[in-house]
Amino acid sequence: MSWEEVTIGRSGAAVARSRGVYRKTADPDDRAVDLVAEGSRLAWLRGQGIPAPEVLDCRPGLLVTAEVPGRSAAEPWPAELRPKVIDALAEVLVRLHALPVAGCPYDRTLAVTIPEALGNEVDLEDLDAERSGWTRDQLVAELLRTRPGTEDLVVTHGDLCVPNVLFDPETCEVTGLIDVERLGVGDRWIDLAICTRSLTSDMNAQWGPELAARFLSRYGAEPDPGRIAFFRLLDEFC
Ligand SMILES: Nc1ncnc2c1ncn2[C@@H]1O[C@H](COP(=O)(O)OP(=O)(O)O)[C@@H](O)[C@H]1O
Ligand SMILES: [Mg+2]
Repeated sequence: MSWEEVTIGRSGAAVARSRGVYRKTADPDDRAVDLVAEGSRLAWLRGQGIPAPEVLDCRPGLLVTAEVPGRSAAEPWPAELRPKVIDALAEVLVRLHALPVAGCPYDRTLAVTIPEALGNEVDLEDLDAERSGWTRDQLVAELLRTRPGTEDLVVTHGDLCVPNVLFDPETCEVTGLIDVERLGVGDRWIDLAICTRSLTSDMNAQWGPELAARFLSRYGAEPDPGRIAFFRLLDEFC
């Protein structure tokens, strides 16, 4: 079986595809990539009726999934289909966030994510523009200073950026949520903050502020600047 390399993602996992399957590999001793955690979450998510790839093989350092048809929101979409894609994205997130939190075995509340963040290294060369030039100490101080006092808990995807959602190229329906290593119960703004950042990034100019606003409105949320800032800051530690 010959493999075609797809990406070496930011996480450090190498992704390759071959005849209908995707393979993610990583150093099994690398604490930063947990493919067993991802495989377990994918299977759980599919079990909840949310579109996600079927897990074909999963062990430390290896995750093999069946190819999900469609293409991601990081690929180019014709202008007339973009609002439909945004609406489908908002709709799948409403469905995900409507799952009962009591039924989700994965914890991404601040009690877990803040200590985890404090133990992680930060790539200071890859900070969001508003934090460019900050030191790690500054990031940590701001994280602890702005930690929300309450959490609006739902089942979150945890890395809801445009390459991680696939859509049918004709109907624009969501065919799969992928890259779910950080899925778990957490504040809904984990996903809303990361997704709106992805939609307004220079790397995805086809979306932009207007469609990001449409996304929030279709989802049914008013922008929450404090939580947006906090969860984007927390993501610097991932
Ligand atoms: N099961 C799958 N079906 C279709 N495409 C996939 C699948 N798994 C991964 N991909 C493609 O590979 C890319 C990288 O996979 P992903 O799991 O997001 O890894 P990374 O950690 O590198 O972001 C995705 O953006 C998507 O285009
Ligand atoms: Mg990804």
